[in-house]
Order: sequence, then C-alpha cells, then structure tokens
Amino acid sequence: NIFLNLRLSLPLFYSSPAGFTEGVGVLPDDRLNAAVGGTMIFTTTMSPTEKPFSSVNWSFNVSTPIIIFIINAENIIGPEYEGRITFFPSTASLELRSLTLDDTGEYGVNAVHDGTLLNGRTTLVIYEKVSSVLVNSSSTDLVEFNGSVSLSCSASGSSLSFLWLNGSSEVTASDRVQLTDGGSNLTIINVTRFDQGPFRCRVSNPVSTVTSDPVNLSISYGPENINLISSPPQGYFAVGSDISLTCSVGSRPPAQFKWFLNGDQLPDTGSELRLMNVNMSNSGNYSCQASNNKTLRSQTSEPSAITVLEEISGSSVKPSTNLPVEGTSVSLTCEAFGSVFKRNWMKDGSELTLTDNMTLSDNNRVLTFNTVNRKDNGEYFCQISNPISSDGDKYIMTINYGPENVQIKGPNEINIKGTLKLTCSAESTPTARFTWFFNGTVKLTNSVEYIKEEVELSDSGNYTCQAWNNITERTSSSVVHGLTVTGTCIEYDSLVVHTLLCAPVSPPSPF
Ligand SMILES: *[C@@H]1O[C@H](CO)[C@@H](O)[C@H](O)[C@H]1NC(C)=O
Ligand SMILES: *[C@@H]1O[C@H](CO)[C@@H](O)[C@H](O)[C@H]1NC(C)=O
Ligand SMILES: *[C@@H]1O[C@H](CO)[C@@H](O)[C@H](O)[C@H]1NC(C)=O
Ligand SMILES: *[C@@H]1O[C@H](CO)[C@@H](O)[C@H](O)[C@H]1NC(C)=O
Ligand SMILES: *[C@@H]1O[C@H](CO)[C@@H](O)[C@H](O)[C@H]1NC(C)=O
Ligand SMILES: *[C@@H]1O[C@H](CO)[C@@H](O)[C@H](O)[C@H]1NC(C)=O
Repeated sequence: NIFLNLRLSLPLFYSSPAGFTEGVGVLPDDRLNAAVGGTMIFTTTMSPTEKPFSSVNWSFNVSTPIIIFIINAENIIGPEYEGRITFFPSTASLELRSLTLDDTGEYGVNAVHDGTLLNGRTTLVIYEKVSSVLVNSSSTDLVEFNGSVSLSCSASGSSLSFLWLNGSSEVTASDRVQLTDGGSNLTIINVTRFDQGPFRCRVSNPVSTVTSDPVNLSISYGPENINLISSPPQGYFAVGSDISLTCSVGSRPPAQFKWFLNGDQLPDTGSELRLMNVNMSNSGNYSCQASNNKTLRSQTSEPSAITVLEEISGSSVKPSTNLPVEGTSVSLTCEAFGSVFKRNWMKDGSELTLTDNMTLSDNNRVLTFNTVNRKDNGEYFCQISNPISSDGDKYIMTINYGPENVQIKGPNEINIKGTLKLTCSAESTPTARFTWFFNGTVKLTNSVEYIKEEVELSDSGNYTCQAWNNITERTSSSVVHGLTVTGTCIEYDSLVVHTLLCAPVSPPSPF
C-alpha cells in the first residue's frame, strides 16, 4: 500500500467570477504507482478542523463517478467501486483496493468547504508485479577463449527493466560484453576463466524488483604454466636414492598426466612420479605431459635430467713400471670403481703443472712422462670425483738414474807401511756398487772404500773405480787414481835368501 502524506502547503487560488478555487494542490502532482491487487490511498493535503466538508466528489478519467459525498446524505458510489473503496470524510481522502490494470488513469477530487471549492487531480498507474524471473544460458560448460555464451532473462510483469549482476557488481557493456533486447540478453564473447559468475538477472518495474537465481558458468582452461620439479632438487643421485618428480600445472578441470623417460612413455599416471631405490638405468631425461579432457589442450614440461651414479671407491694410481729409469717413458694410470666423472692430478700438494715432457690422456686417466727426469720425483695424487662422491690415491715416484760423476778420493802418494784408504763416490739412484781395479786387475768388488793396511812399494800404480747401478744397469766410465808408494829398501843377499828391507823415507830411516 502506498500512503501519500502531504501537508497543506500550497496556497489556494481563488478565481472570479464563481469564486471557485482552481488548483491541483490538494492531490500530489507526481504520478502514483501501484501493483495489481494492491491498495491505493489518495490522501489529500486538506485536513480542516473547524467545519466539515459540505460535499466531495471523486471521479475517474473525468467522467466516471467513484463516490459522491454530501453532508447529511447517503454516499453515492459508482458501480465499479462497490466494496472496493473507503472514503475518509474528515480529509476527503479515498482508499481504492483490489487494483486492476483498468484502474490506470486520472483521478480527480472536488470538495466544497466553507463555501469554497477545492480540487485536485493525479494519475495512477497500475503495474503487474515482476514474477517468474528465469535465466537461460546457451551453455554453462565452456572452454576459455573458445566461444561465447548468451544468458537470456525472462520474467512476467509490466514495464520491465533488466539489469545483470556478476557476483555483486553490475555488468556493464564492453567489447566483450553485449547487452541486447532491452538488457534482457547478456552475451559474453570469447569467455575467460574470470567469467564464471555467479550471474543473476535483476528485473524491476516501479512496483517491484525480483532477482533470479544465480547461474554459474563452468569455464575450463589450461593446462598452462607446466612445471616439473624433482625432490631432492639436484640432478645427481646415488644408487639407492628415492626421487620424487612432481608436475604442477594450471588447469580446470584437473589435468591428466603422462610421464616420459627419454621420450618413451612410462606406465605412470598422476601428478607425481616416485622413483624408489634407483639404479643407473633410471638415469635420463624425464618429462611430464598434462592434458585437459575438456579443453582438449595439452602441455609438455621441459625435460628434467636425472643422473644416477655409483659412489667412487677403491681409487688407485699405478705406474707403468715400479722402477722408473731416467730417460725412459713412464706413465701413471689413475683408476677407481664407480661412476667416474672427473680426475684431477696434484704434485706434492699443489695442482700439477704439465711440462713439455708430460701428457694427460684418456680424460686425465693416464699421466705420461715421455722421458722421465729425476726432477719428476715427488708425490703424485690423483683425485677422482663425481657430483656425489670423491676418492683419491697417491704414488711416490723415485726416478732411478746414474751412476754419474764418479770420483775417487784419497792420497796420490803414500809412505811404505802406511795405510791406504781410497773412497769412491758416484751420483746414482739407487746407490751405486763399486768395483776396484789395480793396474787393470779386479781387486775388490762391491765396496765404497779400498783399504790396504801396510802398503808396499809394489802397490804403486793405477787404481780404478768403476760404479754400477743394478736398476739402470749402467756402468760408469772408469776413473783412474795414480798412487806412488815411497820408501828406501836395502837388499840382503845370503846364500839362501834374498831379502829386501824397506822403510819409509821420512821420518829419517832408522838405518
Ligand atoms: C580471446 O581472448 C584472448 C585473450 O583475451 C585472445 O588472445 C584471443 O585472440 C581471443 N580470441 C578471439 C577469437 O577473439
Ligand atoms: C565478472 O567479474 C570478474 C571479476 O570479478 C571479471 O573479471 C569478469 O570480466 C566479469 N565478467 C563479466 C562478463 O562481466
Ligand atoms: C576428465 O578429467 C576429469 C579430471 O581429471 C576426470 O574426473 C574425468 O573423469 C575425465 N573425464 C573423462 C571423460 O575422461
Ligand atoms: C638429456 O637431454 C640433454 C639435453 O637437453 C641431452 O644432452 C642428453 O643427451 C639427454 N639425455 C638422454 C639420456 O637422452
Ligand atoms: C571450440 O569451438 C569450436 C567452434 O565453436 C568447437 O567446434 C570446438 O569443439 C571447441 N573446442 C573445445 C575444446 O571445446
Ligand atoms: C803397475 O803399473 C805401474 C805403471 O805402469 C808400474 O810401474 C808398476 O810396476 C806396476 N806394478 C805391478 C805390480 O804390476
């Protein structure tokens, strides 16, 4: 029900010659709206207190009487209004019930009060209330970027206006969004995942507003932004490790997964691939493929390289010969069990610097000395590593060489009866063995020193030392040391024996 409650605020205008009041002020100027079946109260702006109205006349569309009121007489009511109206004599207001669309029209009132005629007019429009608001969607199952959707709104009622809600905000037209048929049709061109709604249609007229049930659009999209992650994250794993590969992707509905190793499909499905207790055959490039059975689109990840390695153990450095000889070729070979990735050589605790004489071959496995030199002596360390382990071994190389630079030390002149001591030396690894000759005859072998306690004159002559290296199997050139034994001798000749007595030259002979 609509009540109009207006105060008597307008002055009444008097017009000659009849002295009637002309004006529209006793009823509201605005159009009045009401619903079918409803009630309307036309409230005038008059409320006299002193004297009652002497007569009031309500009419519809000028000529159809509604009620004629004359003071102290019975009311006259138009036949269409029997039982539908209530008249309020104190204000001349009128209530009209059970409204129908036919009640739309102009209502007028003339009232006589204290000899003055007052009148007013207003227009009443009857509307059918909004009802049966329904939204129809051309489809609710859509694929992003693949087509459009139309939502149409139907309703009963008169003078309907339409408005669409997307969630809680009003839909406005744009390149993508068209509103047609007086706003009752909403077309979304090239739907995106954000267009899921809920969409509601709000229908209104001046007497009512009804909002439809929400319509949700299911918009499939993806797969997109595929990402393959291994856990733990590095690409190298020891034999026996457990590895988990997870494929993540944006997709609605959830994607279905396939897994590939070096391009060959694995039986696994699901977003996670677990590799338990891996061995080297599990190595390779893994990738996942996600597909969406609604969008019929799929996406494949970048490959993730997994390398399964054996730990390195039992490393060794072995020389080509245990007794390397200077001037020959020697090689050191570095080996280990496990998955060898890298070999690194050190000499005496620092990085090995290759000289012209050395070459590294077979991925640093073999260190070759083309002609080994005694300067190459030292500790050789080979470290073998892979991304998960490392091990190393050392070899101490001692080069055999010589003998060289043989020298004899000792006197060149000695008194008779004195002690002769000659010492021979040579540069040699291992230590040389010496052989002593006197006047070309072997006198002593395997001795550094040649000692004679009491020399005779006959010990004068040439002493020769010859050095020999049993590893290099080389013999030095001979070094000759001359010796003169000095002394004085007296010969005794008897019939039986011939005796020669000798004595040192100095101190002076006792003879
Ligand atoms: C649909 O929209 C997307 C992004 O807004 C655009 O890339 C694509 O070209 C559009 N497709 C059509 C058919 O308009
Ligand atoms: C619906 O609202 C979302 C944001 O809430 C917006 O991204 C989308 O474009 C809207 N769709 C339409 C058809 O208005
Ligand atoms: C499509 O994918 C969804 C989500 O993975 C699944 O539940 C559904 O069974 C699939 N439908 C068909 C027909 O394969
Ligand atoms: C894995 O891929 C890399 C390059 O992406 C390639 O060099 C390598 O050979 C591949 N491994 C296998 C086992 O196919
Ligand atoms: C995309 O739209 C075309 C034409 O409307 C349709 O034939 C096709 O099946 C749609 N694709 C998907 C994945 O729905
Ligand atoms: C050894 O040689 C020297 C010089 O040739 C000679 O004088 C001496 O008599 C020789 N001694 C012996 C015992 O042969």
